[in-house]
Amino acid sequence: MTELRIGMIGYGFMGRAHTNAYKRVSDFFPELKYKPVLQAVCGRNKENATAFANQWGYASVETDYNALLSRDDIDAVDICVPNDRHREIALAAAAKGKMILCEKPLAMDTTQAEEMADAVDKAGVANTVWYNYRRVPAVSLAKALVDSGKLGRIYHYRSNFLQDWCISEDVPQGGASTWRLEAASAGSGVTGDLLAHCIDTALWLNGGVANVTAMTETFVKERTHAETGKKEPVGIDDACAFLCRFKNGSLGVFESTRYACGHKALYTFEINGADASIRWDLHDLHRLEYFDHDDEGRVRGWRSIHVTDHGGDHPYMERWWVPGLQIGYEHSFVHQLADFLAALEKNAPCSPTFRDAVETQKVCDAVLKSAAARSWETV
Ligand SMILES: NC(=O)c1ccc[n+]([C@@H]2O[C@H](COP(=O)([O-])OP(=O)(O)OC[C@H]3O[C@@H](n4cnc5c(N)ncnc54)[C@H](O)[C@@H]3O)[C@@H](O)[C@H]2O)c1
Repeated sequence: MTELRIGMIGYGFMGRAHTNAYKRVSDFFPELKYKPVLQAVCGRNKENATAFANQWGYASVETDYNALLSRDDIDAVDICVPNDRHREIALAAAAKGKMILCEKPLAMDTTQAEEMADAVDKAGVANTVWYNYRRVPAVSLAKALVDSGKLGRIYHYRSNFLQDWCISEDVPQGGASTWRLEAASAGSGVTGDLLAHCIDTALWLNGGVANVTAMTETFVKERTHAETGKKEPVGIDDACAFLCRFKNGSLGVFESTRYACGHKALYTFEINGADASIRWDLHDLHRLEYFDHDDEGRVRGWRSIHVTDHGGDHPYMERWWVPGLQIGYEHSFVHQLADFLAALEKNAPCSPTFRDAVETQKVCDAVLKSAAARSWETV
């Protein structure tokens, strides 16, 4: 095995999810040549970063990402910090010849995303963006079914990502816990945070988007800033709904909000084809619902496929337990990492690459532009 020495920047929610993947992947994918090693974690606060390193098993700590990038004993950099920091770190990492695994959304906007994709391509460094839902086995199965032609011509794609954690006006913006509500850190609200996932999956399953028309709303206009204690205008979109036309002629309907009382992280999609339909939701992530019009009429109906079978039927599942036993959210990161490491061996790209993620960014930008202009926008 060859060590792949990881330097991870940021150690919050995603830092934990990724570290879990680094620790598990070689146990469950033993054939991989590359074995991740937790070489260094980087955070601004030495005490907190050291506590994280001790808890999770990182060998060293840095408080300046440039110091991390200058080290010869770091092969790959993992960017797990808020969105406004992705560009500068990725450009610096590419310049140092480091492989890059970057959290989504890749950037604050398309201009930044293209600059980043150009930088990794020019440097010739392996790269991927953590749109992890592609690697939920039921979603991977959806991709296989669509690609096999089982759905026939696609007419409709509909997708939601619903949360409710912002309903209280007392939730602050900015700072360590609520940077997502501050435009300067997040870039946008639900569009870049949640719809970006829906869009990435949609582009993967159903191809490119031609044009969009959107509406956004900011329900709470002012929130206290967590760092200054002052009320400041809210610059992000609290909710966004958009219609689109895909390049294959199908119609898309997307909605995301942080004000859907009762929903914590309800990511769903449904695709209706001429011959069959599929639907999936994150709260029941190990199931794929499937309706086949060719079924005998007497028993025709929606099937709920428990995506846990072996024998190659259900992607990734052979790696885990026995058929019938399901896996969860964290495994999607293990799978993406396994695919990244396998691609590295073959010197092949691991999708979504930075270049792939530019396409998602373009749709996000068109959505926000359309909402502001109340127009249809070409992607
Ligand atoms: N793939 C997914 O499903 C998914 C889920 C959540 C978050 N994300 C993305 O991951 C990234 C991080 O989100 P998170 O939920 O882990 O956030 P988080 O707030 O839990 O953690 C962020 C980390 O970055 C550090 N940090 C904050 N500001 C920084 C700065 N200016 N410089 C250096 N470090 C800084 C924090 O100390 C913390 O360690 C974001 O881009 C987010 O969009 C992706």
